[in-house]
Amino acid sequence: MSHPNPHIHKVSILGEESIILGFHIFDYLVRDTLSNFKASTYVVITDTHLQHLYLDRFETTFHAVVDQLHKAEGSVKPRLLSYVIPPGEQSKSRAVKGEIEDFLLAQGCTRDTLVFAMGGGVIGDLAGFVAATFMRGIPFIQIPTTLLAMVDSSIGGKTAVDTPLAKNPIGAFWQPKRIYIDLSVLETLPEREFVNGMAEVIKTAAIWDHDDFVLLENGAEAIRDAVLKPARTAEFQGATLETRTPAQQLLLKVVMASANVKAYVVTHDERETGLRGLLNFGHSIGHAIEGIVTPKLLHGECVAVGMIKEAEIARHCGYLSQVAVGRLTRCIQAYGLPVSMDEKFVKSHIGDLYCSVEEIMQFLRVDKKNMGSQKRIVMLSAIGKTLEPKPSNISDDIIRKILGAGTVVHPRPVNHPAVVLSPPGSKSISNRALVLAALGTGTCRLRGLLHSDDTQVMLTALNKLGAATFEWEDNGDTLVVHGNGGKMQVPDSELYLGNAGTAARFLTTVSVLVPPSSDPSAKTILTGNARMKQRPIAPLIDALTTNGSDFKYLEGKGCLPLEVTPIAHGLAGGEIQLAASISSQYVSSILLCAPYAAKEVTLVLTGGQVISQPYIDMTIAMMKSFGVSVEALPNNTYRIPKGAYINPSTYLPATPGGQNVTKISGIANQRVKECNRIAAMMHELGKFGVTTSEFDDGIIVHGHDIASLSPPADGVKCYDDHRVAMSFSVLACVVPGGSIIREKKCVEKTWPTWWDDLESKLGGRTSDIDIGPVPDHHDYEISSTSGKTSASQGSRRNASIVVIGMRGAGKTSMGRFAAKALNRPFEDVDQYLERTLSTTIPEFIKLHGWPAFREQEAKMLQELLQKFPTGYIISCGGGIVETASSRELFSEYIKSGGIVLHLVRSIDEIENYLNKDTTRPMYGESMRDVWARREAWYRECSNFEFVISGQQLKGNEVEDANEWRLVEGIFARYLRLITEPKGDSLVSARTAPKPSFFLSLTFPDTSPALAHLSQLTLGSDVIELRVDLLKAPDNSEIAFREHVAQQVSLLRRHSTLPVLFTVRSVSQGGQWPDSDVDGMVSLLKDGLKWGVEYLDEMESRYQLAKSLSPDVVKLIGTANSLKDNFDCSEFSESKTSRSDDLPLIAMNMGPLGQLSRVLNNFLTPVTHELLPVKAAPGQLSAREIQVTRHAVGLTPKKPFYLFGKPIQQSLSPLMHNTNFQSLGLPFHYGLHETESVDASIVEKIRSKDFGGASVTIPHKIDIMAQLDEITDEAKIIGAVNTIIPITKDEKTTLVGDNTDWLGIYHQIEHHIASTTMRDPTKMRGLVIGAGGTSRAALYALHRLGVQNIAIFNRTMVKAQAVAESFKDVFEVTVLSANDLKSSTGKTDFDLIVSTIPGTIDSESMFDERIFGAATPAEGGASHAGSKIGVAVELAYTPRVTRFLKLAKHAGWATVEGSQVLVEQGGWQALKWVGRTWDLASVQRQVDNVPRQ
Ligand SMILES: NC(=O)c1ccc[n+]([C@@H]2O[C@H](COP(=O)([O-])OP(=O)(O)OC[C@H]3O[C@@H](n4cnc5c(N)ncnc54)[C@H](O)[C@@H]3O)[C@@H](O)[C@H]2O)c1
Ligand SMILES: [Zn+2]
Repeated sequence: MSHPNPHIHKVSILGEESIILGFHIFDYLVRDTLSNFKASTYVVITDTHLQHLYLDRFETTFHAVVDQLHKAEGSVKPRLLSYVIPPGEQSKSRAVKGEIEDFLLAQGCTRDTLVFAMGGGVIGDLAGFVAATFMRGIPFIQIPTTLLAMVDSSIGGKTAVDTPLAKNPIGAFWQPKRIYIDLSVLETLPEREFVNGMAEVIKTAAIWDHDDFVLLENGAEAIRDAVLKPARTAEFQGATLETRTPAQQLLLKVVMASANVKAYVVTHDERETGLRGLLNFGHSIGHAIEGIVTPKLLHGECVAVGMIKEAEIARHCGYLSQVAVGRLTRCIQAYGLPVSMDEKFVKSHIGDLYCSVEEIMQFLRVDKKNMGSQKRIVMLSAIGKTLEPKPSNISDDIIRKILGAGTVVHPRPVNHPAVVLSPPGSKSISNRALVLAALGTGTCRLRGLLHSDDTQVMLTALNKLGAATFEWEDNGDTLVVHGNGGKMQVPDSELYLGNAGTAARFLTTVSVLVPPSSDPSAKTILTGNARMKQRPIAPLIDALTTNGSDFKYLEGKGCLPLEVTPIAHGLAGGEIQLAASISSQYVSSILLCAPYAAKEVTLVLTGGQVISQPYIDMTIAMMKSFGVSVEALPNNTYRIPKGAYINPSTYLPATPGGQNVTKISGIANQRVKECNRIAAMMHELGKFGVTTSEFDDGIIVHGHDIASLSPPADGVKCYDDHRVAMSFSVLACVVPGGSIIREKKCVEKTWPTWWDDLESKLGGRTSDIDIGPVPDHHDYEISSTSGKTSASQGSRRNASIVVIGMRGAGKTSMGRFAAKALNRPFEDVDQYLERTLSTTIPEFIKLHGWPAFREQEAKMLQELLQKFPTGYIISCGGGIVETASSRELFSEYIKSGGIVLHLVRSIDEIENYLNKDTTRPMYGESMRDVWARREAWYRECSNFEFVISGQQLKGNEVEDANEWRLVEGIFARYLRLITEPKGDSLVSARTAPKPSFFLSLTFPDTSPALAHLSQLTLGSDVIELRVDLLKAPDNSEIAFREHVAQQVSLLRRHSTLPVLFTVRSVSQGGQWPDSDVDGMVSLLKDGLKWGVEYLDEMESRYQLAKSLSPDVVKLIGTANSLKDNFDCSEFSESKTSRSDDLPLIAMNMGPLGQLSRVLNNFLTPVTHELLPVKAAPGQLSAREIQVTRHAVGLTPKKPFYLFGKPIQQSLSPLMHNTNFQSLGLPFHYGLHETESVDASIVEKIRSKDFGGASVTIPHKIDIMAQLDEITDEAKIIGAVNTIIPITKDEKTTLVGDNTDWLGIYHQIEHHIASTTMRDPTKMRGLVIGAGGTSRAALYALHRLGVQNIAIFNRTMVKAQAVAESFKDVFEVTVLSANDLKSSTGKTDFDLIVSTIPGTIDSESMFDERIFGAATPAEGGASHAGSKIGVAVELAYTPRVTRFLKLAKHAGWATVEGSQVLVEQGGWQALKWVGRTWDLASVQRQVDNVPRQ
């Protein structure tokens, strides 16, 4: 068949009709070109894809036309050349441009040459640029073949190539002579490329033309089909109007509309000054995203996400309604484009790439159109309209807020007025309300309607039926319905309902009410998409047909599309029957229309049980609000009186809110498979410090004082559940601090404007936060234990911690560590500055000088403090205190409750460190001079001070690592002290062992005593540092304050006990000059800075004590008689009985007062034989006091036991009895060997004097049944090894606990710094054996943070059973013997715990390969494996097992069984008597016991 004359369409640009559209127009194109643009040579530039598809055809056509013209006009035949390049963006380069030019020159092309750019945007841009510069410009013609090129890149004359550094930086404006858009070539375009182009089409309609947008909205299916599933009923389909399908027609219409807009804009703003900026809608953010993810996502895909983000910004600013955002979202989705970076589609393409808010901001910043803290972004004000005829200025804060995946909700002002905020109605309520108001008479304002596909479809349909007219008010919050009182007409086109099921059901009966029109053939047609055409509607149609209505199924029986023939009387009425068991929506459909029937309707639901009664009741209740009362008769029968709805002036289709109750029952069904919502709520509430409990059917929430709640540092996880997000953000409106809500997007489906409403209506404030990629929600596993841990983390004081100090003091590394330890984000003022100003600091200083830099630094600090007042760690540059304005900021911040932490390190060490570090330029002046100038400032600017005493940092990597870990441990403790509410870290009168003691250190310098500190403090609970007795060593230059600070820091290194900081004046029996009150006060203040737990302040300075808010009160008198001691003790009792009283230390001095020291229950000062002097006359040692207390009957004897069998070889009696003895306690630990947990055991543990017991094999599980409470740890491990009797109010509770895991956990912890990996969360752990101890070992690994935990046992099923039992808490992989011996990397462990008996033959089980070493056979005598790990042996005979030998040989750190035993026993002791023991001396005792 010969080529038909195609029907073409023209669009004018720059005053000429040079854009030509049609289907199959090659022939036309060639003819048109050859007659209008004569040249001697024509060159087609294209890529290989198109070469195969179209080049042949083009050439054939070309030659045929040339021949024809030659024959007809005798014209000279021109040449046709072609140049084909590889497809893809890489070809858009200077190199390829050069190649083409060389080709043209080689072919002798002159000015008399015309270029055809046949291809996508790449070809268009490149070939266009070639044409622009070749011979200073030759004519060219665009033949765009991608949708993107058709509607965008080919129009406008922008041509360019890329360079390795940027896209399109080199190019020219060069207008093509013609642009031929042949839509038929789209059929070969890959789907993703087509969809990509649709983004531009949607964009253009969104900014320009509401009607075009409606075409796109409703035509998605047809348009996609026109390209992706083209009809094939004719050759050259679509070339002429006769063969053009409606889908092609539609495609042409939307492409032409888009091209038209671009042409218009270009014509009116050719060089891009204003209007053309509008086409950038979605591109500001889209480009930024593209910059990060290219080439994994295509341009249009990024723009699609960008459009939504930019529309959300407009919505947030109040320019755009949610309705519009919703429509845009649905339209973009309808074409298969993404609307969020969290979508599966996106993730599957970009993998681990993440577009952080900061990175996007960075991209926006370098965009040449943007400046300062505002960005230029196109603001939609409605579909088809923009706020300004150009992009608008939007502040960074707003952009950040919208981009963040999470949000920080700050408490609203206390005086904020009460607000009633109704949630949007559900889909079903909204649809009912629409029908009611449309059928009603008068105007009704519907508030809080849910904007969804369904409601949108319903609105359109009701409108087409003439049932009502609609308009939006309040930016889309209110829908004004002008009801037509039930009058309707046959719509002039079919009602397309998409997949909106509710709408289809309700509208079916509504359409029956439509009367015949003047045209007797006019009918109402209800149709939908393919999915809808499969959804059943037969029961409703049957019922209505029986009632006399006239329906016809147009396709499948029982489904849409439906034809409704109008009948004069509409719905006949009378009795209508429906099966009770079918959808309540059918019932509601009839109910809603029944008042308009010809006869009064009686609706009978037949066949018993009615399903979804609540929905039927809801319909009836809503009808009542519109003035029609349905009468419910017996037997599921309803009578609906005839009448018409009378519209209330406003109607709020809101779902009723919940009740204010603390016990919520009937929600067992919330424990769904994807997410146990009850557990989730409990878990998240726990993080705030709210206690909850769970019962079968629901949850109990215990009320708390709001002020006592504090937001979790890692934020609220929403489990992708809108309910969780909304409830916690309401909570966050009242909780002090700012609460991070993660995954804020999850509210979208039910309450899309939630975050805006929260701010504009509820009065909450939000700010942005970037919390990293949003994990897929199934990543959230909730286990009962993790809730507990985080609940205690939730009680932190949340102010951001600002770290200052000298350069080299460790601000960055310690700051980062603090961020990790407190689970907070980290910010660095310097980096923030560099990011914000897009420069480096040296560059900035070079350009603007130091003063300008200091000024900027202060500004950035201020910004950061405003943005992140809570929950952050912010580290500053060393010189920040040099600026007065910065210093002011610091003191204001401190006044407002903030924390400024000064990190101090000795100048010697800093110099040492900085000299080594060659990457940092040295100061011009000496460190000492700098320090001398700044020291006072640092002090003035900080309210906390941490001294790093790293004197053992020797430069040896392994030792340094250990040292740093120690320093970090101390720092972590310090951080908790300053961030947790007071009391948590203190020995309180309520929780301390009775009696409790503090040891007075009376050294001028404690250094020599540190080696024995654990011995000295044995039996004490607090260390007192007598500051007035301290003296700096004679030969040193250290100032006194520095000396004191160092002493505190040294005590921290060597003991974990809290520190009591005492300054005693001469008149108080100390050595501080009485006259130097100021010095004393400032020392005490320093004590607080260093984070000492207690300050001792004599009563004479009570006012000062009060201003420093003491944690303990100490009353000291002098005893004149023995009786004074009893008075004193009585007084103290009376004062401490109430739980909110301050702890009180009351005692008398002097020899006669000694008894008061014995009687005092709380923190009695004690001495120790090894101390040089007693701190006060009459002071006793802790041991002396304990012995005396027993002697006078205050401490009765108590028996402790070991239960198990066999236990004769046990080392426990030795350990515990030695400990009791050195403490002076009259306790005895003995063995009780039995076969089973029998009556003898029960009798012992229930006896009144029972002190406690250890439990070993075989009773660890059976004993549980005899106890009153089991700790969470023991529950998870599934075994008890320690019994602790706890007596309260005369009642004794037996608690079962497990300390086995603590022994393993802490021993590994001691060695972790020696490992290669150092970070437990990155380690692989292995437990060998599957007995009871293996369970404790697995749990210890889990608590260490090890993610990758494996178990091996000779009998694999046993290992499987163990692994299985932990599966709710953490995952354990079961390995086979082969796995252990394979060299496939499975043996790549870092932590191995062996729990099998030491005597067992383990050779068949494992060899040195588990330690990563080569076998001797392969590697000869080589030992060291590729990395160092920790091997823990739990067997303690023989002392060095085969396992340990192999580990040592491989160079691993090893822990012997006895070390775990001693560690574990220390924890037992702590649980029984409140104090742990001196590990080293107990270990010595144990090691002295001969073992094989
Ligand atoms: N000049 C401008 O104003 C402007 C505007 C927007 C984009 N651009 C530029 O456009 C380029 C992107 O253009 P694009 O999206 O068209 O990509 P493209 O040119 O790389 O084409 C995409 C792919 O589709 C293939 N293809 C093209 N037409 C086909 C057809 N009909 N059948 C089968 N396969 C076909 C191509 O060979 C290629 O593999 C970018 O370089 C961008 O910078 C320029
Ligand atoms: Zn674009």
